[in-house]
Amino acid sequence: MAERKARITVLVSGGGTNLQAILDAQKSGKIKSGEVSLVLSNKADAYALERAKNAGVSTAVILKKDYPGAKEFEKAIIETIDNNNTDLIVLAGFMVILSEEFTRHFEGRIINVHPSLIPSFCGEGFYGLRVHEAALAKGVKVTGATVHFVNEIPDGGKIIMQKAVEVLDGDSPEVLQKRVMEQAEWQILPAAVEKVCSEIIK
Ligand code: GAR
Repeated sequence: MAERKARITVLVSGGGTNLQAILDAQKSGKIKSGEVSLVLSNKADAYALERAKNAGVSTAVILKKDYPGAKEFEKAIIETIDNNNTDLIVLAGFMVILSEEFTRHFEGRIINVHPSLIPSFCGEGFYGLRVHEAALAKGVKVTGATVHFVNEIPDGGKIIMQKAVEVLDGDSPEVLQKRVMEQAEWQILPAAVEKVCSEIIK
């Protein structure tokens, strides 16, 4: 009998390079305890959706403007995730802050990748390029990425994996972002997904 794999829903808003790293790791066998069964986006034009389709993975788009308020929008996301019989939710560049109701509903089953060494440059307002702008403004010489469980505090849940990356003289936010993705995020996110999935299916 084939071994059970954890069912993963990946939540995205943008380019989806972290989603791609997960899909590639699945293909190469680095992720063997889970499989991405749904990619859900809050942006209709997210390139991440193309990446999902190219890999033959189902997609869903849920737009905030289609709902009367944040609560109803989130409820639609929860229902879609539940209907997919999701074991693990991966936030991969998902630019929506989730309520306590959401994080409670999926307690211990949501992980996020953040482009800094938490607790530096994290929490509300720190996302995407802004994180790297803040790191450069502070003049840190080392930054990196963190994968952590998600709870009701933005970027506040238990840390699963971290990897440090050097900041070099003359870095722009874009150059630093690319280095952090290549050297840290795309490495530790798939590794953390495999680790958590292997614990889920035990
Ligand atoms: C990544 O750098 C991710 O760490 C960051 O957004 C980018 C998404 O890129 N997430 C956050 O800042 C969350 N606070 P991607 O769509 O190419 O994976």
